[in-house]
Amino acid sequence: MLINLNKIRSVVIEEVIHETPTVKTFIFKDRISNKAKPGQFLMLWIPGKEELPMSVMLSKRKDRAAVTVRKLGYGSTALHEKSVGDKIGIRGPYGNFFTVPSTANKALLMGGGTGLAPLMRLAEILCDHKIACTVIIGAKTKEEVFFETFANDLLSDTHHRVVVTTDDGSYGLEGKATDAMADIVGIEKFDIVYTCGPELMMREVFNIAMSYSLPIQASLERHMKCGIGICASCCIDEYLVCKDGAVFDEDKLPSFKEFGKTYRDKSGRKIFYS
Ligand SMILES: Cc1cc2nc3c(=O)[nH]c(=O)nc-3n(C[C@H](O)[C@H](O)[C@H](O)COP(=O)(O)OP(=O)(O)OC[C@H]3O[C@@H](n4cnc5c(N)ncnc54)[C@H](O)[C@@H]3O)c2cc1C
Ligand code: FES
Repeated sequence: MLINLNKIRSVVIEEVIHETPTVKTFIFKDRISNKAKPGQFLMLWIPGKEELPMSVMLSKRKDRAAVTVRKLGYGSTALHEKSVGDKIGIRGPYGNFFTVPSTANKALLMGGGTGLAPLMRLAEILCDHKIACTVIIGAKTKEEVFFETFANDLLSDTHHRVVVTTDDGSYGLEGKATDAMADIVGIEKFDIVYTCGPELMMREVFNIAMSYSLPIQASLERHMKCGIGICASCCIDEYLVCKDGAVFDEDKLPSFKEFGKTYRDKSGRKIFYS
């Protein structure tokens, strides 16, 4: 049967996990999203409020998928007000996805905040390939750390380690995730780096990866309206993040003048990262 991914599917929220005071995971039944590739995203409609791109998070339950959402502004706050039994709409999954080079034996996964969601889907695949994984989880403070146990459980069948950093040193290593990355890649060789998180973190991850000539795949975020390559609200330089990405590799990333420098607000106005 031909499935129209652009048609909104109404799904019922079956479970809400409170990951941290500001982050919740919403689990729902959807066979299509359950099979999404790591890094693909849904356009998630909060009825009467907003439609937002959200990475597909892993759910171990049959035919279920999930999104892990930080309460930030208008749309995500409206989603955080939803509970078990409420309906939301989804379309997709859209976009390209993280890929695993056939020669890779050792991977470094750099996640910041909810950027960990697509990396958890990826981690499951890396584990199936018996690729050794180092996961670095960066958070501001202890109470904002999540997915540490999830990552350890997920990767239990392969050689792995999970390193947590907090900006204030309240848990794990004190400092930025990128400080830990710089220390680790200074003494260990990796075949590939994967990253998703705040853009300034990803820019730094990219800079470190380039200085050690490491292949890198980064999942970028831009404001999205259509999610399917029509409106151009998600552009980065001449590329559309929804259609050409959201995952870009070391071939394309160096050509982006906007990467880690500017993004566009809802009206399309360029905003400089400060
Ligand atoms: C492919 C993709 C996957 C995503 N996956 C997730 C996910 O798994 N979980 C999740 O919580 N969110 C995810 N997002 C982000 C999400 O779509 C929303 O942007 C986020 O929830 C904020 O929406 P809002 O309506 O709550 O905030 P808004 O009211 O739109 O804005 C909140 C604030 O964020 C600022 N802002 C907007 N865009 C950027 C930017 N690029 N860089 C810096 N600041 C910016 C705005 O200026 C504003 O100050 C993803 C985005 C993309 C493109
Ligand atoms: S969101 Fe419309 S073109 Fe990408």
